[in-house]
Amino acid sequence: MLNDRGFDLWADDYDQSVGLCDEEGAYPFAGYRAVLGEIYRRVLQAGARSVLDIGFGTGVLAARLYERGCEVFGQDFSQRMVERAQAKMPQARLYKGDFAQGLAEALKGRRYDAIIATYSLHHLTDTRKVTFLRELLPLLSERGRIYVGDVAFETRAQLEACRAQAGDGWDADEIYFVFDELRPFLPRLTFEQMSDCAGLLTLAN
Ligand SMILES: C[S@@+](CC[C@H](N)C(=O)[O-])C[C@H]1O[C@@H](n2cnc3c(N)ncnc32)[C@H](O)[C@@H]1O
Repeated sequence: MLNDRGFDLWADDYDQSVGLCDEEGAYPFAGYRAVLGEIYRRVLQAGARSVLDIGFGTGVLAARLYERGCEVFGQDFSQRMVERAQAKMPQARLYKGDFAQGLAEALKGRRYDAIIATYSLHHLTDTRKVTFLRELLPLLSERGRIYVGDVAFETRAQLEACRAQAGDGWDADEIYFVFDELRPFLPRLTFEQMSDCAGLLTLAN
């Protein structure tokens, strides 16, 4: 599992390497642009004005929403990712912090129309995913929604099939979403498979 320094080192060629992997239709980023594009479309369609991005990275998605006039907030533990994202979104309120320890205090005192997390929450255990998502729900505005785009599967069998296909390329340190196993703890969670390995999960109050 990459730590904050690992992401610092990846930051400068992140966009290119992820884009290439997606173009090749290869695990883990096959469907990356489709998932981010779908979240972008839904956030704007819902008329969201304030957006919180958890693990925003270089700001691929958040910067597109920022350009469309959304007020962007975010948390990421990589200093280099924060720098790159801040350069794209000068007015965004971006905080450095480990979400495994919870949300930065400065981000807790407001409501968000959309909370987005793409390819970031697989760094949490399933138990922590559930508690973290539950912690985020009260921060949604009345019609707000959480959108998670990530390597994700409906069933454990589908995850295992992807693991077999990926062979040595499989990252056993990452803990991918399995919808069937999380839904009992988050009954309002919904899931859509977007590629062989990408999924879109949504949650609302
Ligand atoms: C694979 S990148 C995804 C970036 C972006 N959301 C995207 O879709 O391109 C994962 C991001 O999550 C951040 N991250 C991973 N674990 C984290 C943690 N425990 N706390 C805060 N940020 C974390 C990394 O620094 C990195 O920027």
